[in-house]
Amino acid sequence: MAKKRIAILTGGGDCAGLNPVIRAVTRKGLELDFEIIGLLNGWKGLINKETMPLDLKSVSGILPKGGTILGTSRTNPYKQEGDVGKIKTNFKDLALDALIAIGGEDTLGVANKLYTQEKLPIVGVPKTIDNDLSCTDYTFGFDTAINIATECIDRLHTTAESHHRIIVVEVMGRHAGWIATYAGIAGGADIILIPEIPIDTDEVCNLLKKRHERGKKFSIVVVAEGAKLKKDTEVLQEEKKDAFGHVRLGGIGEKLGKLIEEKTGYETRISVLGHIQRGGSPTAFDRILGTRFGIKAVELIKDKQFGKMVALSGNKIVTVSLKDAVKELKTVDMELYSIAKIFF
Ligand code: F6P
Repeated sequence: MAKKRIAILTGGGDCAGLNPVIRAVTRKGLELDFEIIGLLNGWKGLINKETMPLDLKSVSGILPKGGTILGTSRTNPYKQEGDVGKIKTNFKDLALDALIAIGGEDTLGVANKLYTQEKLPIVGVPKTIDNDLSCTDYTFGFDTAINIATECIDRLHTTAESHHRIIVVEVMGRHAGWIATYAGIAGGADIILIPEIPIDTDEVCNLLKKRHERGKKFSIVVVAEGAKLKKDTEVLQEEKKDAFGHVRLGGIGEKLGKLIEEKTGYETRISVLGHIQRGGSPTAFDRILGTRFGIKAVELIKDKQFGKMVALSGNKIVTVSLKDAVKELKTVDMELYSIAKIFF
């Protein structure tokens, strides 16, 4: 009997922890005598039939490496007419028995559609530094991102304190402020601003003035890139959109910093962390989570459990339906945010 042929792809923004998943899927797959192939650059690899074999040699040494050895893209097969048809044809041509899609809301949204509408045997693995996917306590990539952001906040603290400045730190987080909240709490931020709550600049300035009055002549303000000003809904981002209709964010830190300086008279500097949060070696937590997710994804395929996503619930790796996972985004827990607010 021919070996089962399993494909794996990584889609959307890269993050730390993708390679540990690829390694785990390959190692577990080989143990079960499956043949594993990598599809290059997300859904684009399946549309264009661009693949690479995955074996012991190709996944050797990738555990501590950031990014993805398979490459990624924000390709949306539902954007370009004919691409879904190509995916179906190539699935057959490549003689695939199953596909593991690793991604966030967009990649897994496509995976869910291909499973429900085209009946393709797909299993999802949740990835995103934003940690905003439902049905899982954490996505891998998030822990690495918050550790990098926390270290940056620590470094910025010393400059802010020495120069008696306000420093606005813009972190990633398109729809949800998980990175801002976690890194803000861990880094001792004086104010944390997230997409879930429109920014009231007067309130921000009052908090900063109060700190000054009690002798604290410096402050750290952490703002998520997706946060919006309450009184000013002006579009700050470039209008360029990706295949999933998302605009390129960035700019709220700059705008907020200027407003703070204008309204308070305190010298204010801005630091945008950007892709630094996505790069580099995964933390031990992300390596372990990625490894556990990868193993579980292969087990689901062995048991023919398609249309599912692996997830973390407490300390256990569980299975949820892809449909539920992509239904709505997981926004910041307001109980956690209220803890952060105690330190504002
Ligand atoms: O989805 C993760 C994320 O890092 C978001 O926080 C951010 O808005 C987006 O990706 C940036 O994507 P790109 O690298 O494609 O500009």
